[in-house]
Amino acid sequence: MSLQVVADTVALARAAAAEIAGRAAQAVAQRGRFTVVLAGGSTPLQAYGLLGGGNMLPWEHCHIFMGDERCVPFDHPASNWGQALAALGPPAGLPKDNLPRIIGKLSPQEAASDYEWRLKGFFHGAPWPFWDLVLLGLGSDGHTASLFPGRPVLEERERWVAPVAAPAHMEPHLPRVTLTLPAINSAACVLFLAAGQSKRPVVLRILDDPQAAARDYPAARVRAAGETLWLLDQAAAGD
Ligand code: 6PG
Repeated sequence: MSLQVVADTVALARAAAAEIAGRAAQAVAQRGRFTVVLAGGSTPLQAYGLLGGGNMLPWEHCHIFMGDERCVPFDHPASNWGQALAALGPPAGLPKDNLPRIIGKLSPQEAASDYEWRLKGFFHGAPWPFWDLVLLGLGSDGHTASLFPGRPVLEERERWVAPVAAPAHMEPHLPRVTLTLPAINSAACVLFLAAGQSKRPVVLRILDDPQAAARDYPAARVRAAGETLWLLDQAAAGD
């Protein structure tokens, strides 16, 4: 696990965009394509804005996925995919088929089965997906993607994608669809992005003792097959 702390959210967006671009260049050079899973929530949106506007990414070789979605239509303000795409802007040169969405207007069960089926098609029957990079956010309750504390989905060992009932303690109170822990942990690299003081207690516990924190915080159960990186602003990291 490695850690980078930057001054504020502007620096965090720049550092995240640079990390994503560096991983993309490396993956395309090695394998001819870059598979990246975007995080929902507000923290990564500035980084998406930096990437979308320019030529930092080799768009024609990028395949962009979403780690979790709220079950709402794509044009609903709470749609993770809608928010991410609005921040990215229409990336010039990205083939339309390289943006497979989670269809939030379906029921959570149907949307999860549909997304899993399409992911399995993309990865040609591999036992688990192979992501070059998975971006993740962090909730003040220790959730990541839509993996909330205490939920049975945390024990999922077979499915790549699972439906999740609406969290009562976290807004928006909407049912979700999420990648499961094994489908995240198969990644070559996971990059957590966390900003703001509300995240600090969880961040400090996870970085201090991830094994102990894993009892309470789903984010602490993320251990990428390759590297797990944390990128924090000063407010989230504290002193
Ligand atoms: C979701 C997100 C979630 C998010 C964190 C952090 O669907 O709610 O995927 O995991 O990343 O809640 O959100 P913020 O960046 O808005 O704090």
